[in-house]
Amino acid sequence: MAEPKENPLMEKIVSLCKRRGFIFQSSEIYGGINGFWDYGPLGAELKRNVKELWWHAMTRQRDDVAGLEATIIMSPQIWKASGHVDTFSDPMCDCLLTKKRFRADQIEPQSGIVYSWGGAVKLGKVEEKIHKANDNPPDNQIETIRANANRVFVRLQRDVEQNENQNSKTIAIEVLRLIRADKSAASEESFSVLVAPGKPPESARKIASQFYAQRGVEVTHLQLEQIEKVENSTRFNPENGALLTEPRPFNLMFKTYVGPVESEEGIAYLRPETAQAIFAQFKNVLETSRQRVPFGIAQVGKAFRNEVTPRNFTFRSREFEQMELEFFIKPDEVIEAIYGSVASAAETGRADLPVGQDAPQRVPTTPQPNWGWQAWHQYWVEERVRFYEGIGLSRETLGFHHQTPAELAHYARACTDILFKFPFSKKDEQGNVAGDELEGIAARSDFDLSQHQRFSGKPMGVFDEELRAAWGKLPEEKQKELWKRYYDNRKNYLTKTAKPDETPEQIQKQATADADGLTKGQYIPHVIEPSAGVDRLILALIANAYSEATKTDDKGKSETTVTIKFHPRVAPIKAGVMPLLKNKPELVKKAQAVRDLLRPWMNVFYDDGGSIGRRYARQDEAGTPFCVTIDFDTLGEKPELLDTVTIRYRDDGRQERLKISELLDFLLSKIR
Ligand code: GAP
Repeated sequence: MAEPKENPLMEKIVSLCKRRGFIFQSSEIYGGINGFWDYGPLGAELKRNVKELWWHAMTRQRDDVAGLEATIIMSPQIWKASGHVDTFSDPMCDCLLTKKRFRADQIEPQSGIVYSWGGAVKLGKVEEKIHKANDNPPDNQIETIRANANRVFVRLQRDVEQNENQNSKTIAIEVLRLIRADKSAASEESFSVLVAPGKPPESARKIASQFYAQRGVEVTHLQLEQIEKVENSTRFNPENGALLTEPRPFNLMFKTYVGPVESEEGIAYLRPETAQAIFAQFKNVLETSRQRVPFGIAQVGKAFRNEVTPRNFTFRSREFEQMELEFFIKPDEVIEAIYGSVASAAETGRADLPVGQDAPQRVPTTPQPNWGWQAWHQYWVEERVRFYEGIGLSRETLGFHHQTPAELAHYARACTDILFKFPFSKKDEQGNVAGDELEGIAARSDFDLSQHQRFSGKPMGVFDEELRAAWGKLPEEKQKELWKRYYDNRKNYLTKTAKPDETPEQIQKQATADADGLTKGQYIPHVIEPSAGVDRLILALIANAYSEATKTDDKGKSETTVTIKFHPRVAPIKAGVMPLLKNKPELVKKAQAVRDLLRPWMNVFYDDGGSIGRRYARQDEAGTPFCVTIDFDTLGEKPELLDTVTIRYRDDGRQERLKISELLDFLLSKIR
């Protein structure tokens, strides 16, 4: 499971994570299980801090977001309504030789020469069969087969179709029949191998022989049918050149059974996202939290996807955690009816602008009642970037990808991915790194609530008195225009998701009812969804914080030390507390008192083992931002320094003296 050799930084990170107890391979003592990771003592603290910070920023710091903690296994109807049962799949293909599975859309395009075979036969068996089929075969028949072994099928076929000699024809028919009936004698399966430039063509033959050997033709005579030059093909295994199967959809949901019987009725799924529980509980939360649209529901929790190719350490795992917010907003038609017009996106912050450009526009604005979906979408992109900045990921380490219409889910109006420049992120031709997805912020229209309304039969819409009152005051022309727009949107949605037995008339009737509802103050809220992965964020934070320094001493001996420069907010240990010497009871007693003073407020680590320099180095590697040392001055050796400690700053080694009475406030001001 080691990272590829060509990524030394990733290798160092993976090794540090294991060595210092951030991340371990799951089930390591049994050889591991691909795509599953455990968080060790430091990793567990780091993860907890990240989730706490997200929860704090998204719920407790806001009036307009409520929290939810739903179950992982839910009614399978939820996944039918959401579309996951039918469409949550990746295109997958297998290597025809090794059976290794690939995601078809992630295969690197390759160029080279493709050798294609039409099949293979085991010559010895063929001879045997010819003898058996005819006690006295013409010698030249065997000779021809032997000489032309690679084309034996073609020749036999030709004999069957064209040979004037009835005897040869009969032999050929019989031999073909026998060969086909006996898997150990022949395989007619076609197979191809791509040979990259600079590689010997024999390698293709070797791979093909292995392929046919697996089919029982141990000593193969290959029927080479074609040699062809190809460019940028994704049809071959990048590791051995063997042909891949055609891509086919592979559903990513893990299936299980609820109840004692493993039957169709008991099938359930481990949730592939936390979002759907939020939609399913929308009405309950709305009614119990006294929220009104616009408002959001936040959830942090496990998600499971049977990824075809888990990779890049924890980046693509099969079990991971998400931090998702579903922020429900009024449809634009409602905003227009109430406020006359919808605010433009330019009125909000622009997180996607490069640093230094158009700076004033990047200042986030306070949400306004007349914001439509575009403004809310921009706002949430900016909010999320600010969150990342607040935990140490500067804008320079991030990137943005605005999904193109072809990439967007059919119900989504926009999706901006926030990227992080991971050590494994690819460079373009100019050497620029765009990054890989950390979080997606999607404008999901009213698709999800509409689907759950249709599948459950329970109303998911809301009533808005302000809309009802405003509608009556609109000029007729405006009413007609808004009615028509809402009707068109609903019809569009209903048409795209129609069941096979639904007629256009039924769809029109439903769309009319929905648009009529609007005139009475009813609508289905739209959604903006910032959806972040905890594990990807942990990996980004570690990669971002990883720093090495090499020092050479007077004797010319050099040593490389690692410092993990976590932002104090996320650091697993906030302060190391150290008595200068462990064999001086007064120092130990004082140090333990300092530890106990800090402990209720933050995670501290008491360390009295080894030289103070080694202890600092250990904390540097754990990412601890501060070390507090209790020395003889603390005990009053210099009376003016009584009850003071040394604070050592991780990132520059600076030290300063601080009163113990001021220590807690000092540390709290840094870690909050
Ligand atoms: N509800 C929307 C949703 O789930 P997504 O883009 O599939 O959207 C959201 O996932 C986030 O979850 C991603 O941006 C990523 O951070 C994280 N994520 C998705 N699949 C993951 C995987 N296999 N391993 C780790 N994190 C993953």
